[in-house]
Amino acid sequence: MKRELVIVLDFGGQYNQLVARRVRECNVYCEIYSYKTDLDKIRAMQPKGIILTGGPNSCYEADSPTYSAELFKLGIPVLGLCYGAQLMQHVLGGKVARADVREYGKTEVLIDKRDSRIFTGVSEKTICWMSHFDSIFETAPGFEITAHTADCPVAAAENEAEKLYAIQFHPEVLHTQEGTKMLANFVLNVCGCAGDWRMDSFVEETVKRMREKVGDGKVLCALSGGVDSSVAAVLLSKAVGEQLTCVFVDHGLLRKDEGDEVEAVFGPKGPYHLNFIRVNAQERFYNKLAGVSEPEKKRTIIGEEFIRVFEEEAKKIGAVDFFVQGTIYPDVVESGQGGESSVIKSHHNVGGLPEHVDFKEIIEPLRDLFKDEVRKAGLELGIPDYLVFRQPFPGPGLGIRIIGEITSEKVRIVQEADAIYREEIANAGLAGSIGQYFAALTNMQSVGVMGDERTYDYAVALRAVNTIDFMTAEAAEIPYEVLKKVMSRIINEVKGVNRVMYDLTSKPPGTIEFE
Ligand code: XMP
Repeated sequence: MKRELVIVLDFGGQYNQLVARRVRECNVYCEIYSYKTDLDKIRAMQPKGIILTGGPNSCYEADSPTYSAELFKLGIPVLGLCYGAQLMQHVLGGKVARADVREYGKTEVLIDKRDSRIFTGVSEKTICWMSHFDSIFETAPGFEITAHTADCPVAAAENEAEKLYAIQFHPEVLHTQEGTKMLANFVLNVCGCAGDWRMDSFVEETVKRMREKVGDGKVLCALSGGVDSSVAAVLLSKAVGEQLTCVFVDHGLLRKDEGDEVEAVFGPKGPYHLNFIRVNAQERFYNKLAGVSEPEKKRTIIGEEFIRVFEEEAKKIGAVDFFVQGTIYPDVVESGQGGESSVIKSHHNVGGLPEHVDFKEIIEPLRDLFKDEVRKAGLELGIPDYLVFRQPFPGPGLGIRIIGEITSEKVRIVQEADAIYREEIANAGLAGSIGQYFAALTNMQSVGVMGDERTYDYAVALRAVNTIDFMTAEAAEIPYEVLKKVMSRIINEVKGVNRVMYDLTSKPPGTIEFE
């Protein structure tokens, strides 16, 4: 049976992935494509509905992203959001221009057409998230206005007969209180989707698909212990068992006990029957890093050395048929293969693909999933919570949490301080409410006293941030009592530290990591 698909056409707005996620929450499968996607390609996909996203441009300017009017004549329902709404009106003969008043933030929207199919069950007055300079001043022929605000005469418009809907605000943003209801109305009521796409079928179907694809071939996986590579590895192990070999490189820059935790799950004593190779390359990395304090240089060394170690192991294994990667949907979108928005974090990937690994084909079992969906799959596969809900941990590991030269002694200090910090955050019940938190080691040594003795030791920095997309962040407000306890435990328990500081810097101007 062909699975129902709704497509999001990306016009460069910041919430595009969010639109797709919200649609999937309605149990309708959804994919993101660039607005440059050919009409024929769209037709061939036979989507049940099309959603046009927001974007930073003005649709009436010559070089702004656009689409031909034919898109609206396919007989497929279209929902335009913000820029997408304006574009729909502009292309079909309405009038869009700069408004006198810019609307931004939570705004009361008054629904004029209560029986609109898209506003079924929505309150007459409803709070929505607005963010626009331009406004629709005249709707295109055949459209009627279905909602307005104090400053915006056309907050929504529709041509019910043609199934075309324009919404000036952002239903995908949670500040729009009834936004999910509106999106569900679109995909279920207007597009007529059945809403039967479920994550639980993903694991079963993927295991089956992988088994068929791999046959009796040999599979190699670079396992980091992060959520994505762990879930990919377990999926493959379910599918092909001992035909899978996982190589886990311990570069000596992991968090305290992390190497052992990964081994406990994937190693010979764990529940999965796969070939697990742990490479203890700590000394090798420390030697390469000796005397290097420039951040980019450290990153490069760690990335390159990682690839060398991995290649050496792969050579020992010999030719394999498939190489598994834990690529997930946001990676696909952000690398430009999906949508338009360019929040590229390429510098965040360690190295890239090893050049001298001998394989025929790459398999990426998670490339259609968002992070929360990968986590769901992980839980279903029985991967322990502490791996599934791990915080983001950079590929170069503690290498970018130690300022200046990296030594095994400094790694020990930051590992111990970080373990205490994480333990106390968990004890205080804060673990789920802070985006990312960790201890880092500044390169500062200063005078202190311990007992009767003068010390000259390091200062540890505690970092904790709240963030939605990791592109911007605010320092988290951790209760003072918790910070005090962490400070006193670190000073007492971690040799070599005599100061603990809390980093208040937001991003920008700071970064989240500490390098
Ligand atoms: P920054 O420090 O740039 O970090 O504000 C933003 C987010 O990205 C993570 N990060 C990385 N993740 N490899 C990764 O897999 C990396 O090299 C890397 N550098 C930063 C960082 O932890 C934060 O979540």
